[in-house]
Amino acid sequence: MENLVDRLHKNRDLPDDELKTLIEEFVAPPLGARAAHPQILENADRIPALPQAKPESFAITAEGNKQEQELFEKADRVRREHYGTDVYIRGLIEFTNYCRNNCYYCGIRADNQSVERYRLDGDEILSCCKHGHELGFRTFVLQGGEDNFFSDDLIAEIVAEIKALYPDCAVTLSMGERSGDAYKAFFDAGADRYLLRHETANATHYNQLHPGGMSLENRKNCLWNLKKIGYQVGSGFMVGSPYQTSDFLIEDLRFLQELQPDMIGIGPYISHRNTPFHDFQSGDLRTCLRLIAIIRLMFPRALIPATTALGTIDGQGRELGLKAGANVVMPNLSPVKVRKQYELYDNKICTGEEAAECRMCLENRVTTAGYKIVTHIGHVKKGETHPRHNT
Ligand code: 5AD
Ligand code: FES
Repeated sequence: MENLVDRLHKNRDLPDDELKTLIEEFVAPPLGARAAHPQILENADRIPALPQAKPESFAITAEGNKQEQELFEKADRVRREHYGTDVYIRGLIEFTNYCRNNCYYCGIRADNQSVERYRLDGDEILSCCKHGHELGFRTFVLQGGEDNFFSDDLIAEIVAEIKALYPDCAVTLSMGERSGDAYKAFFDAGADRYLLRHETANATHYNQLHPGGMSLENRKNCLWNLKKIGYQVGSGFMVGSPYQTSDFLIEDLRFLQELQPDMIGIGPYISHRNTPFHDFQSGDLRTCLRLIAIIRLMFPRALIPATTALGTIDGQGRELGLKAGANVVMPNLSPVKVRKQYELYDNKICTGEEAAECRMCLENRVTTAGYKIVTHIGHVKKGETHPRHNT
């Protein structure tokens, strides 16, 4: 009988119980009581010991390890079929850390009084773009909290200015929930893509992660609106968020199948000292990597970033993410002076003085992992197979 990985590869899908096996097994700290076990981690010496490790609560088998390796290899093969070794880069501009929301997991939540708040003005955003353009970026991602100071008109104006100055570039927005009219106005001003993670596709879980006033229904509506308007849409979720179960993760995958986004961003949940969730453990590297690989097999042409959060829980996280099927990296282009203030979770990387060099640092990392940064606009591929793929 064909194994699970082969069948997922061939059918781009598996029944729930089999998906669950791939998500859960062989790494095995049961979700909820998540804990790293040195013996199952290839790079154990780089992974800090977690406080509540319970090695006896899970087992690893040789067969399991083999299957996981196979999963990563297949995912990498599929990404090469469509994208060769190309890695797309997006310049991330974190333009405001004000946020009116209070997601329990997020370090820039409104109630966190210890954050020093900042906003970049239009000129500062444009100067990030100028610098980014010189470095070879052809996509700018404007990411921020939900900040009403940036009215719909102001955002549309900024987008239009960027597009006028850099018509060869794509503008991606990532600023949370706005009205359908606002999304339409940004699109008409020239925005190409929108990132809005659904965070969890289970309504009960959604309410465990967000206070009243936010709802999964609204989130989904926003995503459907964005799609209808014509954006390339990105969604995704955190891995290992508090109260997450593998059944919820399957619901996440099913929702993605329904939405068919062009971009799928996932990364580990990482706790932040000044949030109500400060005592929850962060998500684990291997589960994240397996989910990246599963998503690559289910969505062969998706743009999947190796996220900063993945690089934060492990020094090699982003490289491992690429090898498990990711094909995008998003170096930080924000002015160095504000980077520490955009802290969604503790110990976020790329926030020190060395951070001006993110572009070069990532170039080295990507090359070492066996891939190549390309500087074109990097739209999603809708149909073609990569010309250099010859296996
Ligand atoms: N850990 C990991 N990811 C987080 N995000 C927000 N807070 C955290 C955290 N504590 C993610 C959310 C959001 C994206 C911008 O960052 O998924 O959509
Ligand atoms: Fe800002 Fe969640 S705290 S969107």
